[in-house]
Amino acid sequence: MSASIIDGKQIASEIKDEIRDDVARLRARGIVPKLVAVLVGENPASQVYVRNKGIACRDVGMDHETINLPSETTQGALLSLIEKLNVDQSTSGILVQLPLPKHINENSIIHAINPAKDVDCFHPSNVGRISTGDPLFLPCTPAGCQELLLRSGNDPAGKHVVIVGRSNIVGKPLANMLIQKTNGANATVTICHTGTRDVAFFTKQADIVVAAAGKAEVITGDMLKSGCAVIDVGINRLKDESKKSGYRLVGDVHFESAKDVAGAITPVPGGVGPMTIVMLLKNTMKAAQI
Ligand code: GUN
Repeated sequence: MSASIIDGKQIASEIKDEIRDDVARLRARGIVPKLVAVLVGENPASQVYVRNKGIACRDVGMDHETINLPSETTQGALLSLIEKLNVDQSTSGILVQLPLPKHINENSIIHAINPAKDVDCFHPSNVGRISTGDPLFLPCTPAGCQELLLRSGNDPAGKHVVIVGRSNIVGKPLANMLIQKTNGANATVTICHTGTRDVAFFTKQADIVVAAAGKAEVITGDMLKSGCAVIDVGINRLKDESKKSGYRLVGDVHFESAKDVAGAITPVPGGVGPMTIVMLLKNTMKAAQI
């Protein structure tokens, strides 16, 4: 069996088209969604991520602004900026790009963001609202995974979903989303993590596997049930002398062996990645209407 490919690029492009129409409708009512991204320091990967978020905003007709601050910025100065953005009428969503320089406490920054503008859905109030089934926003990467499942005909309802990885950004919020008694969820969820003795014992029982372990190619075909759906959240660089760049990108799933067992699978790149930014746009649009 060779799995069908869940094309994140294509699905993200369709959702972007929907968002573009929604933004035009909002603009006609005088509502202009605006994302403000704050970037402290000069981390090259963060610079790329923030630039891509700005490009995506422009692409759907949203306003955006990137505030670049030097790496020596104090925690107090960053908190003052957030206070200003929290009450600024023209700012719909605030995104503080992580990681922050070591002298700044990330939690105190996340806690300072107005929850109604927290388009990352990192504020504890928004995280809590996911688990009680009353979400204001959905976190971008987990929401992207759920949307990929739904739009590829793999509704999690009634299925056994095994999530490998318990991060605050992916594993935990995704589990909380998928156990809700709501449309597009209502799954039985197992979380595996570094303390799990036999990950394969669980993944072999899964109708849906979400790999978010943060380790290259740790989920292999022999760990999967025939016909299952596989969502690969991982992005890892592997040395590859045959590439001009000297490396290739791989997921947390060993694609070559998994595709012969799974019924559907996301590629890396081109799977979950493009969905994350699209979900950020959705949250920004929602924030503009709060
Ligand atoms: N750094 C890596 N991913 C993210 C993200 O989704 N949001 C923010 N704010 N920082 C990140």
